[in-house]
Amino acid sequence: MLFKKFFPLIFSYFALIVAAILLDYLLHLFGFPGVGRYLGIAGTLLILLSFLYSLRKRRLIEAGSPRGMLALHEYLAWAGAMMILVHSGIHFQALLPWLAAGAMMLVVASGHIGKFLLRRSREALRNKQQTLAAGGLSEEEIEKQLFWDALTLRLMTQWRMVHIPFVMVFVTLAILHILSIFFFWNWK
Ligand code: HEM
Ligand code: HEM
Repeated sequence: MLFKKFFPLIFSYFALIVAAILLDYLLHLFGFPGVGRYLGIAGTLLILLSFLYSLRKRRLIEAGSPRGMLALHEYLAWAGAMMILVHSGIHFQALLPWLAAGAMMLVVASGHIGKFLLRRSREALRNKQQTLAAGGLSEEEIEKQLFWDALTLRLMTQWRMVHIPFVMVFVTLAILHILSIFFFWNWK
């Protein structure tokens, strides 16, 4: 059933928001509300690290399997976005950083949809796996081939045409926010 497959992703998305609220609550409870400010830097670094996947995908680095690096992308981006939500806090003083945070949550939602599409594509290719296995290829080679095949499927291509502009908007707004902080904020 479609919903059964999509449920873990909906859960993951809302778990991110709940985790951020919980962490924010705990920081306030134990008297460290200022930590949130630094979680903006930590979260940004984690999201930057998550782009290692893009380098691996384009063979600019060789470390890790493509599949493993995608999983790393998902975990790091999830954790980074959660930290940035805590950093955002429950106050509204400026529009720009909130637009950046909104764009980030759209990118995260879109990332979850991409994960769903990718999983479906890979399931559709399972039959092909059996055919290849019969042809005498090793399991590792088959896994690699399936991964790249899955990525070329049409739905994924269409999804990327939506996802990448979202990412660009998010990155632009985040850079503007960070620059404005460095130029105009009084660090005391
Ligand atoms: C702020 C958070 C995120 C940003 C900025 C981001 C950015 C990106 C970018 C730029 C790509 C394209 C990779 C490439 O072709 O080089 C991508 C792909 C992808 N992301 Fe994310 N992402 C984020 C969060 C997530 C999350 C939370 C998930 C999953 C739960 C996710 C799942 C995926 C998937 C499945 C792909 C497709 C892989 C592919 O096309 O090769 N992303 N993401
Ligand atoms: C190097 C990374 C970052 C640094 C150094 C940083 C720094 C700051 C600082 C100093 C503030 C307080 C501004 C004030 O009180 O007037 C702030 C607020 C905020 N930041 Fe960041 N930030 C970073 C990354 C991000 C990112 C990537 C996002 C969103 C995607 C973000 C979203 C926000 C939001 C929503 C607020 C609250 C604005 C408000 O109170 O209305 N930050 N940031």
